[in-house]
Amino acid sequence: MSEEQGKPVAELTEAEARAELARLAAEIAAADAAYYREDAPRITDAEYDALKARNAAIEARFPHLVRPDSPSLRVGAAPVEAFGKVRHAVRMLSLANAFDEAAVAEFDAGIRRFLNLGDAPVTYTAEPKIDGLSLSLRYEGGRLVTAATRGDGETGEDVTANARHVGDIPGQLAGAPAILEVRGEVYMRHDDFARLNERQKARGERSFANPRNAAAGSLRQLDPRVTASRPLRFFAWGWGELSEPLAETQWEALQRLAGFGFPVSPLVQRCTGVAALVDYHRRLAAERARLGYDIDGVVYKVDRLDLQARLGSRATTPRWAIAHKFPAEEAETEVLAIDIQVGRTGALSPVARLRPVTVGGVVVANAALHNEDYIAGRDSAGRPIRGGVDIRVGDWVTVYRAGDVIPQIRAVDLSRRPPDSVPFVFPDRCPECGSHAVREPGESVRRCTGGLVCPAQAVERLRHFVSRHAFDIEGLGEKHIETLFRLGWVREPADIFTLAARHGPGSAEPLSALDGWGARSAENLFAAIEARRTIPLNRLIYALGIRHVGETTASLLARHYRSWPAFRAAMLAAREPGEAREALMSIDGIGPVVAQSLIETFAEPNALAAIDRLVAHLTVEEVAPPAGESPIAGKTVVFTGTLERMTRAEAKARAEALGARVAGSVSRRTDFVVAGPGAGSKLAEARKLSIPVLSEDEWLKMIGG
Ligand code: IVH
Repeated sequence: MSEEQGKPVAELTEAEARAELARLAAEIAAADAAYYREDAPRITDAEYDALKARNAAIEARFPHLVRPDSPSLRVGAAPVEAFGKVRHAVRMLSLANAFDEAAVAEFDAGIRRFLNLGDAPVTYTAEPKIDGLSLSLRYEGGRLVTAATRGDGETGEDVTANARHVGDIPGQLAGAPAILEVRGEVYMRHDDFARLNERQKARGERSFANPRNAAAGSLRQLDPRVTASRPLRFFAWGWGELSEPLAETQWEALQRLAGFGFPVSPLVQRCTGVAALVDYHRRLAAERARLGYDIDGVVYKVDRLDLQARLGSRATTPRWAIAHKFPAEEAETEVLAIDIQVGRTGALSPVARLRPVTVGGVVVANAALHNEDYIAGRDSAGRPIRGGVDIRVGDWVTVYRAGDVIPQIRAVDLSRRPPDSVPFVFPDRCPECGSHAVREPGESVRRCTGGLVCPAQAVERLRHFVSRHAFDIEGLGEKHIETLFRLGWVREPADIFTLAARHGPGSAEPLSALDGWGARSAENLFAAIEARRTIPLNRLIYALGIRHVGETTASLLARHYRSWPAFRAAMLAAREPGEAREALMSIDGIGPVVAQSLIETFAEPNALAAIDRLVAHLTVEEVAPPAGESPIAGKTVVFTGTLERMTRAEAKARAEALGARVAGSVSRRTDFVVAGPGAGSKLAEARKLSIPVLSEDEWLKMIGG
């Protein structure tokens, strides 16, 4: 990597090395300032790491040239002025990095050498390296007194008022040492990040480049009310000043922090020897995309705290810990075409078709291009992105994947741009139905005005309708929907429920006679459709595919209105200003944009008629009254393995309707684990943590159904 940035370090003369160290110090300082103060990184993590690595390599060769302002002597950036300053009682260190197994082996060998352990293997804790921002929380007498960012390691920013609004951070502790500084990472989950960006967009505010920036931007707010409205989370990974030791090992200390109520990653493990560390790294790399939040590597820490104390620290990093980073998930490839897809709400979504390339172990052939401004190199406020460079067919681009989000384009290599390339012209007509595609003032998206006549929108609406979190009709995949639509057999959701009557056994045109279908598969599909004639209200609302109404909003509406007739009547009444509209807007989580979208949908006679035709075939389940006496109200449940009586999505919906929280992974905060056949690591984890495990039947009995 360092090769790309200039002459190999081994070939530098002393004068060149001096000049290069000056350049690197300036470049890294600028990158630090962008990252820490403006929450807007200008270079990728991999590029940053490469700069630091080159700086370290030159310093190792010319130790007498180390500059007083060398990046190797500094952690992060000096704090911004707007926040009060907090001097850390114990310095906040950073971590040295390892990028391959050899470096991990060297880390371990170095420790054994340092401690003179001979061949005795060392036990470490292996922890995920959460990609957020570090925070130090100081408790005195069990009360949170200050919260500070890392800043330059010595002095951080006072964000106490903001930290009090982070749900994962306890304000009060029981049984804690008189002085306890807990350190950990503030981060944002992918789903919360996506929702936040949606919300930002809907309000015409800037969206964030990634969850880490969103977390940083949300915590470092001068107005704590803004922080309060942001979905921040926290994982504890260490401590600063203590009035008494927490434990004898890192592992036990983390368990104690968990006991005080701090979230501690359930993925932390004890590993002995290098092979176990590398194996942990491999397993987490494989699990990374499913975690729901970003991790950028794993951290190994010597488990015994007496050994940590003996090992001590270098200038900015402890000797007893190292970050084993994941390789940057990015690659270069060519843009073969730019296609426009039409979504169910008519949004024209441009997609880059790429020469397939492997990015972090996954073949990527498409990247999201978002909208016409994005292609042109502008953000929604007209400011340049990617340095203002547009994206063209024929361009060579760097694509990257972060977690499980759709691949994105990070940069365009202008040096490889074909001389005859032309800027992409965004269509002003729907490529599917030819209707005008218009861009409303203040919107970055262009939409097809074809509404009900646009086949692309109709097919997308149907796909959404049968999808897993909506009606979840098994055996009715995307391809089938398209075929049935093309044949005219299914044009709108209501048609699905009359399909058996029109195209069942004995009919003139039976489904079973179609290509790819047989008697058995047709029979199964009809059965699957029958099974969904009864549907919970929240699923029905979500399935309607109303703009801005996602699963969460649908659940809020269902919980509020309880029955279909009540909901329908309320949406009609909300057309006029008055009580119904006020009631709609007063639901926590429903803003004017969602309300407007609902009102418009129900005010559209064709849309309303189609909805009524659908509901005529259904039994819509009412929402049970609030879960006051429910045995699972306020509890955290994890489902694992195969559920046999209902889908996972339904089980989750039921649990939530009864006031439970459904979590994706087992931790000390889990109250029950419901395990079906095939349950694996979560079940094991539950047993390990002595969390009650229920069978599906026991669970159903417990929730009274
Ligand atoms: S230990 C002296 N553990 O990574 C110990 N850090 O690149 C220093 N981080 O500043 C940190 N997850 O903000 C530690 N499990 C973990 C971590 C972790 C994320 C962050 C932390 C640190 C940065 C270093």
